[in-house]
Amino acid sequence: MIRFSPSILAADFNILGEQIRQVRDAGADWLHIDVMDGTFVPQISFGSPLIKSIRKNTDLFFDVHLMVQNPERYMEEFASCGADCITIHYEATHDPGQALEIIHEVGCRAGLAVRPSTSVDVIIPYLDRVDMILVMTVEPGFGGQKYLPASTERVRKAKYLIGKYGNERHIDIQVDGGITKENVDTVLSAGANVIVSGSSVFRGSPADNTAYFVKHFKDWESAEK
Ligand code: DX5
Ligand code: ZN
Repeated sequence: MIRFSPSILAADFNILGEQIRQVRDAGADWLHIDVMDGTFVPQISFGSPLIKSIRKNTDLFFDVHLMVQNPERYMEEFASCGADCITIHYEATHDPGQALEIIHEVGCRAGLAVRPSTSVDVIIPYLDRVDMILVMTVEPGFGGQKYLPASTERVRKAKYLIGKYGNERHIDIQVDGGITKENVDTVLSAGANVIVSGSSVFRGSPADNTAYFVKHFKDWESAEK
């Protein structure tokens, strides 16, 4: 099933609650929440207090993307603030396997992200415990960047590796960065099924843009059947 996960990094924080309601009403079922620590990536975005606050007003599935060094320190905290899925970066920890186990222990789904410069092959040892692979389609750290064309092949590779080594487990493939109405078919064809988009949702009307993507995914799924 294709999931759409608008990234609030591109939202207008003055009216964040209202914009979350708009994307929810327009059919989004996930919300992508980018936590940046100023160490793993240069920027600092926001942390658990913001998640706790928006959790009070929505039942959306919270897809928390931790661009944070040594993320295992924070799992309990993000889980208690309302995260549903926590994605950590392969490059941010000495022991990704243990970090993924901790995510499950605190009751969340576990995602593993790889930067554009990291070989996708690194996911293989974790396919027995991961629920989602995030193939970054830009260098993490900033919204509004251009999709890196080499990503398409990387998504295809992730799909292939999951098929070969995933023991028939269902593992989602998420793409994040530079996804637009124009290039979304490329990542869908390559095998991605969780689509993140920030700028293409929140620049302009979040409701209209979300509705566009959601309808597009429904049409894509019915054409596949
Ligand atoms: C980048 C973040 C993305 C970002 C996507 O480091 O992980 O989630 O918000 O934004 P767009 O869609 O504008 O590239
Ligand atoms: Zn992200």
